[in-house]
Amino acid sequence: MSKILFFGGKGGVGKTSCSSAFAVSKADQGCKVLLVSTDPAHSTSDLFNMKIGPKIIPIKENLDALEIDPQKEADGYIREIKSNMSRIVSPIILDEMNKQLDAARVSPGSHESALFDKMVQIINETSEHYDFIIFDTAPTGHTVRLLSLPEMLGAWMDSLLKKRRNTMALKRMTNRIKGHKESEEDPIIKILTRRKENLEKARSIMMDEDNLGFVFVMNAERLPIEETKKAVQLLKKYKIPVKYLVVNRILPDTMDPFWSQKKKYEKTYLDEIESYFKVETIYKVPMFQEDMQSGTINQMADYFKES
Ligand SMILES: Nc1ncnc2c1ncn2[C@@H]1O[C@H](COP(=O)(O)OP(=O)(O)OP(=O)(O)O)[C@@H](O)[C@H]1O
Ligand SMILES: [Mg+2]
Repeated sequence: MSKILFFGGKGGVGKTSCSSAFAVSKADQGCKVLLVSTDPAHSTSDLFNMKIGPKIIPIKENLDALEIDPQKEADGYIREIKSNMSRIVSPIILDEMNKQLDAARVSPGSHESALFDKMVQIINETSEHYDFIIFDTAPTGHTVRLLSLPEMLGAWMDSLLKKRRNTMALKRMTNRIKGHKESEEDPIIKILTRRKENLEKARSIMMDEDNLGFVFVMNAERLPIEETKKAVQLLKKYKIPVKYLVVNRILPDTMDPFWSQKKKYEKTYLDEIESYFKVETIYKVPMFQEDMQSGTINQMADYFKES
């Protein structure tokens, strides 16, 4: 079964670069890796200089990738809920619900649910094939909320199922009174039950402490440290372990007075990070001269090799 790692952190700290480099390093070591980008800007495609889309494609030996488009997933998700609903509720209520669902389409929650559904699907369908499934995610708060969704969705689906079962029980009763024969198994209950099973399967894969882990990417600066502290607390509430930290863009040694002063601050922050955060490994990645691209990503990957 795969290890599932979510790379999170503040905007621009290097989540996409580090998750890709981590994926490359594991693939180089012989693990089978799936890299999943949930970034609407499709920066993984730019990074590897390849067209990565919603279907899994090979990037290099042992490394496959795909990109999820949150807006597209949200639209599909709402469409599916609408069609499920149209079979459950009356047309008048349906009209009102459609209005609400359209409003929900543009709310951040719907992106998250849709994304989550897609992640669930990916984890269920691929966890037998890969040693690692690595998610490159959007900035912190978003992802942490995303991971709290299984409970919420589970309760929501339970209430839908209950409602549907009541309706069906009523229908069976009237049919019996009228002398009709029993209807076959209800398709809606089937759909809802399948969804719930998928969610539970993914949850049991993810919530197994050894399988799921969070990786925070940060820079050795005040604000990212504070944000990471908060996020780690929040994850604790959901019992999601933070496995690794990546301190990205570590400055080179220099004689220049401006930069050597900055390097001193960096040292203080690094000490704080090392004493505050209790994680398996803190990876330290230097600042490179050039922007990350397919070539430099291999260089970065060296910093994630097991020592
Ligand atoms: N160690 C590094 N050295 C030099 N440049 C870096 C390093 N890490 C990241 N970069 C550059 O910083 C920019 C932001 O990196 P990246 O896209 O990986 O961040 P991100 O956290 O995924 O951003 P976003 O929050 O927008 O998704 C990119 O231009 C990337 O090339
Ligand atoms: Mg990114």
